[in-house]
Amino acid sequence: MSNLTYGMIKPDAVQKNYTGKIIDKILEAGFKIRGMKLLQLTKSQAEKFYYVHRERPFYGELVEYITSGPVVALALEKENAVADYRALLGATDPNEAADGTIRKLYGESKAINAIHGSDSDENALIEINFMFSNLELI
Ligand code: RTP
Ligand code: MG
Repeated sequence: MSNLTYGMIKPDAVQKNYTGKIIDKILEAGFKIRGMKLLQLTKSQAEKFYYVHRERPFYGELVEYITSGPVVALALEKENAVADYRALLGATDPNEAADGTIRKLYGESKAINAIHGSDSDENALIEINFMFSNLELI
């Protein structure tokens, strides 16, 4: 089992200045930051990042949203990282997310939901490698 996951503070949360509060919650939950940077994805990078969702009805909207402003990319380490991080984020739809979760606190809607988290160990490594070069990881 890998102890890594990929997190990404999405454009809505960066724009509303929630970056510091969100990173604080991630650190308080016991994650170590192995990589972190602010970047703006191009349309073609976003299409590749969300390739698994290409058949979903919201794919175009999702690519437009994630490229609408800067995001904070995070490579995170903790025992059981993928599951623990997704628990910290809460359900995709902030209205269904548990109290105290990042999406409940800072998400706007099912589509505009403040933060991303990898859904498997395999995808965590794919996403970290997509977003970071070796020199950017500790
Ligand atoms: P994420 O990948 O961002 O961590 O979110 P997730 O696993 O909880 O949700 P997923 O099904 O992978 O969906 C990816 C992102 O697409 C947007 N979405 N919009 N309009 C809609 O019904 C809808 N459903 C999903 C969200 O931004 C979601 O995080
Ligand atoms: Mg997902």
